[in-house]
Amino acid sequence: MSSVKTLTGVETGLTALAVSLRGVTKTYDNGVVALGPLDLAVRRGEFISLLGPSGCGKSTALRLIAELSAPSSGIVRLARREGTPRPGHGIGFVFQEPTLMPWTSVRENVRLPLKLAGVPKAESRGRADEALASVGLADFAEAFPRELSGGMKMRVSLARALVTDPDILLMDEPFAALDEITRFRLNNDLLALWRRLGKTVIFVTHSVFESVYLSQRVVVMTARPGRIQADIRIETVEPRGEEFRTSAAYSDYCRSVSAALAPSYSGQSTL
Ligand SMILES: Nc1ncnc2c1ncn2[C@@H]1O[C@H](COP(=O)(O)OP(=O)(O)OP(=O)(O)O)[C@@H](O)[C@H]1O
Ligand SMILES: [Mg+2]
Repeated sequence: MSSVKTLTGVETGLTALAVSLRGVTKTYDNGVVALGPLDLAVRRGEFISLLGPSGCGKSTALRLIAELSAPSSGIVRLARREGTPRPGHGIGFVFQEPTLMPWTSVRENVRLPLKLAGVPKAESRGRADEALASVGLADFAEAFPRELSGGMKMRVSLARALVTDPDILLMDEPFAALDEITRFRLNNDLLALWRRLGKTVIFVTHSVFESVYLSQRVVVMTARPGRIQADIRIETVEPRGEEFRTSAAYSDYCRSVSAALAPSYSGQSTL
């Protein structure tokens, strides 16, 4: 049995959950068993990272949660606010590539999801500008993507994901292509946004260091088909900042996560 079910918030016992995957598997049409069985529960407002070797099914898991793809078996449940009008509305997706439309302005890029949803122009422009301000790009609404740095393009992509005010933000290796300093800055800005907006964030990364820095929980996956190898809670003084990144506790967590990840890479070429 496979299904994607939307909770209304009145189903007792699950109201604190944003996402729940139970016994979820995914086999693609070509026979590749990509995922599972996977059991994962993410609480509302939680920030979790998915970490695992290439091809273990991290992007597949995000696509299932976003309802861009259906599970082969098991149940994906999403809690949404009452009255959410259509599938996908409660979810913002940030991909590894910013995937901006090069022929139009930053504002129009950010406005696109609202335009597709039929939101009137004046309202959608205002909301796009608010989203741009929230990622520090208030002054770049009229710019074209080619005029922006890689980090700025990723900020635009984040603004576009936030513009519909989603409950859940899915981020698939969003900062992987950026230099380290830009990545650190975006990590801090993302944490500040998460604290302010209270979204549930599911963040995919290959970086142990990034996962520990950002997340309340690091979920380590096995090699394909991806299952959960370890689920490690990262507890520290909030809000996190550079002092956490340089602390002994941070190093200890990185070591634990690396150790949990090691079996997933055993037998794989390190090239
Ligand atoms: N549309 C598809 N059709 C067939 N196979 C697919 C499809 N998408 C992904 N796969 C396969 O499913 C497996 C999991 O892919 P997925 O993209 O989810 O991995 P990933 O963990 O995100 O990897 P990476 O870290 O490299 O991004 C891989 O073996 C991949 O080749
Ligand atoms: Mg992927």
